[in-house]
Amino acid sequence: MLENLEPLPVDPILGLAALARADTRAQKVDLTVGVYMDDSGHCPVFRAVQQAQHELAQQESTKAYLPPAGDERFNAGMQQLLLGADSAALRDGRVSSIQTPGGCGALRISSEVVFSASPDARVWVSNPTWPVHIPLLGSVGLAFQSYRYYNPVDHSVDFDAMVEDLQAARPSDVVLLHGCCHNPSGADLTLEQWAVIADMAQAQGFTPMVDIAYQGLADGLEADAAGLRLLVEQLPEVIIAASCSKNMGLYRERTGAAVFVCQNTQTASRTLDQAKAAARRVYSMPPAHGALLAGRILSDATLGTLWREELAQMCQRINRTRGELRAALQQHSGVDFAFIERERGMFSFLGLSIEQAVRLREEYSLYMLESSRINVAGVNADNIDYVAQSVAAVL
Ligand SMILES: Cc1ncc(COP(=O)(O)O)c(C=O)c1O
Repeated sequence: MLENLEPLPVDPILGLAALARADTRAQKVDLTVGVYMDDSGHCPVFRAVQQAQHELAQQESTKAYLPPAGDERFNAGMQQLLLGADSAALRDGRVSSIQTPGGCGALRISSEVVFSASPDARVWVSNPTWPVHIPLLGSVGLAFQSYRYYNPVDHSVDFDAMVEDLQAARPSDVVLLHGCCHNPSGADLTLEQWAVIADMAQAQGFTPMVDIAYQGLADGLEADAAGLRLLVEQLPEVIIAASCSKNMGLYRERTGAAVFVCQNTQTASRTLDQAKAAARRVYSMPPAHGALLAGRILSDATLGTLWREELAQMCQRINRTRGELRAALQQHSGVDFAFIERERGMFSFLGLSIEQAVRLREEYSLYMLESSRINVAGVNADNIDYVAQSVAAVL
């Protein structure tokens, strides 16, 4: 039977990362995958996570399954982190959530719930969006529409075009928004623009689904949730897919949450039942380790403070690197790269052609996606001049 399987094309991101790993040239720089790297090119374990792990190892007395919705402390902590401690929706008891295997699990379970509620729902995705959104949401059976989002000419959000396209969103539709640090462009909505989207959702009746995988990596934990919170204040329903992969460095522990802000307590509870049923048919039970660590960090003042400090330093490093990369690229190429400093999070499009990105890979061992999306966090003091010189050479 398995003999009949067709060979699959190589994954555009993971395939390039594999090529980079196999490249033995000394000057190699890998800016493909979206993993935070420190000044030494290493993806670190947060000290808060190490401490929580140490405590957990000493205290854990069972490996029995978690409850189907996951760890309660984790779910409560995530709701507060996303919505704010003084959220009216939380106070009114109209929020429910389920712990999921990473942000991808949250996107998948949310989509399953949307499909159960409204099989004709169309999901509006930004053009461009993170490519994984399409198989994750589409394999549930949902149809897609795309809205214009990024203008490659001036490297900014084409908000007029976005609004024009979203005017066609129907009450049964879902509009997928990136909470912050838009992947792949790094171009985020302003708070005023979030307010316009909230008004449109209210007037047209569509449901926003906010994918927030980088809270804390743009301008800080609170600022990065401001757009999402604005939607939640104004609208009866918002779906949130959150990840702890990046902001707690728990990538391989598969730690995330799907959060449902609903009209009232009954709907929140019914939605959670649907989410648990979806999880049961897809993977049954949630993984424990990462959520138990995150739950501790989010509920313990000392661990929480340590984590917030470490995250703030990470965020500062990314934003500092953006400024340094902009300066180095300008110095070596004479081209204006000011947009890199305006953008947020780990990603930016350098604005190169596919041929230039391929040349960089083949001739310079500088790896980026063929769209010229780079992971800014992969740039450091040791490689920044080489990156800038190589880019200048192909421009
Ligand atoms: C836009 C976006 N959403 C969601 C995720 C979810 O990641 P994970 O499933 O590793 O938590 C990612 C990870 O790269 C992402 O970039």
